[in-house]
Amino acid sequence: MSRAATAIACANIALAKYWGKRAAPGNVPATPSVSMTLAGLETRTTVTLRDLADGRGDTLVLGGAPQDGRPLARATKLLDEVRALAGATARADVVSANDFPTASGLASSASGFAALALAATRAYGLDLAAPELSRLARRASASAARSVFGGFVALGTEDDAAAEPLAPEGHWDVAIVVAATTLDRKSLGSTEAMERTRATSPFYAGWIADAPALAAEIRAAVLARDLERLGEAAESSALRMHACALGARPPILYWSPATVALLREVEALRREGVGAYATIDAGPHVKVLCRRADAEAIAARLAPLAVRTIVAPVGPGARLVEPAAEEPAS
Ligand code: PMV
Repeated sequence: MSRAATAIACANIALAKYWGKRAAPGNVPATPSVSMTLAGLETRTTVTLRDLADGRGDTLVLGGAPQDGRPLARATKLLDEVRALAGATARADVVSANDFPTASGLASSASGFAALALAATRAYGLDLAAPELSRLARRASASAARSVFGGFVALGTEDDAAAEPLAPEGHWDVAIVVAATTLDRKSLGSTEAMERTRATSPFYAGWIADAPALAAEIRAAVLARDLERLGEAAESSALRMHACALGARPPILYWSPATVALLREVEALRREGVGAYATIDAGPHVKVLCRRADAEAIAARLAPLAVRTIVAPVGPGARLVEPAAEEPAS
């Protein structure tokens, strides 16, 4: 059995949003999603096994800070699944860091759990096929299922769903410009927000009924490399998701004044003939889909309205790497 493994996975942004979970076990989305994996926005995770004899449980260090409570419990849950598959009992030390600023507004759970799933399975001596790895990551965080793959990725709603690659990294030269609106990380977690939306929003049934057709349109637009069709449909998916959440009680409003200002600026860019389309996740930040060649100019245009902008081209899937010099060797 291996004793240590290091994996890198990139963040992803959903162009067709997942919002809501099915009643089925194992964290299955209620809506199909389509995402783009983001180059350069990476989580790097090393898992090192320890003998049970020392009596301590798993440990988790995120960005240099030891974790307990919910972050450690979520990592341990995934590690328990891996131990069950491997027939192993050794506890693990997990060291994880993002190379993108935590204030970027990019959910680190997608890249984080994809990297943890790959590093942990390898450290425990397993070599899972990509769909199995995606299922394992999904059970921890549904968007993480998509970060196993590079390029454009689809995740369905079937029992124990695995994400599937839709088109590879080199398929299309587009980018996402992330415009972060605040350095404050506080916002309502997606799991709680989805559950409140499902339980209390009268718009939830409409969202669930409508989402599959919109996701199919988004898939087709990705395959056809049709930026205008994709962008228009992706904006609609994001705004319908937020409209649905606004209908919850108490209402879920993720936006700040800067969010609206950025949406207006994206509209202005389009009036000027620039192909730029906004999407928003469970927070106030705005992410803009555009041609790769336009990305730097769009980032410069949005910069006065944001605390930080990042240009992310289409990125690769999760991969194993050698541990860094300061990390424990296997
Ligand atoms: O990854 P989760 O399960 O916390 O949910 C992510 C939800 C959205 O980012 C808002 C949409 C998506 O499909 O990624």
